[in-house]
Amino acid sequence: MNHFLDIQQLSITAADTLLTRALQFKQQGKFPNYSHEFIAHLFYEHSTRTRVSFEMAAKQLQMQVIHLDLDKSSESKGETIEDTLQNLVAMGIRSVVIRHQQNELPHRMAGYYDREVHVINAGDGTHEHPSQAMLDMMTILEHKPDLSSLKIAIVGDLRHSRVANSFQALCGLLGVGELMLVAPKVWQPKHAYFGQVTDSLEEGLADADIVMALRVQKERLGEGEQMDLAQYRQSFALTAQSMRYAKSNALVMHPGPLNRGIEIDDDIADGPRSLILQQVKNGVFMRMAILDAVLST
Ligand code: NCD
Repeated sequence: MNHFLDIQQLSITAADTLLTRALQFKQQGKFPNYSHEFIAHLFYEHSTRTRVSFEMAAKQLQMQVIHLDLDKSSESKGETIEDTLQNLVAMGIRSVVIRHQQNELPHRMAGYYDREVHVINAGDGTHEHPSQAMLDMMTILEHKPDLSSLKIAIVGDLRHSRVANSFQALCGLLGVGELMLVAPKVWQPKHAYFGQVTDSLEEGLADADIVMALRVQKERLGEGEQMDLAQYRQSFALTAQSMRYAKSNALVMHPGPLNRGIEIDDDIADGPRSLILQQVKNGVFMRMAILDAVLST
């Protein structure tokens, strides 16, 4: 695997290999050594979990991590991202992790520098966030190994969520039994990769084994897509009351960042059935598996 760009590029075997490798890293605590490798982290959008876990992952593999302070880089002087990347490659950087607001920018970069650098997508616009889907699936598998018998519900702004796009594609690839995509009409996906769309939380959550809430992405809402948050909360929030629609032992997930009191209540986010911090922890191991897969190509 030369690049890690989206879920579509993965075969079932490739996805399984990443999941197995990440679980092995977690269980065994032994990691390969890539101390001769330089990796650049280019985060053009804010990030906490993804940025830190990619950094932790690279450091666990003994890699040399270069952070571009993008406010102080030459792009603020008008340099194109293509030129920036070409310069990084010239200096000996062999891998780049990119988060960018433009859909498919990592794909373009991978096309330009196919043989020179490994491109890893850490979230592109509203398109894909494949490492998040992989770590979410790793977390699910630790609790529910039989995906074909699972009902999963994902609730929120599915129209603008790159997390939801990648997650749907991965559920389809790995044969999840049932995926419900729960959103108000204005936030329903324009194109669903996999799953069944509903605007009823009750229907979506009915008998669900896993319920994943998404952040209300205020910064991505366009004209005609605004929604009153109190109204959203009323119909779609994960609360003690709405979680009663799901199975009594249903597990709760959220990719973060959380908007507590909007899409999820404290007692659900911090409750005994919440996997939210386990997702965060698994992010480091999954990103190690991804870096290992591209570097060992
Ligand atoms: C998400 C992202 O940035 O795509 N967060 C994450 O990476 N864990 C989701 C979001 O911003 O709501």
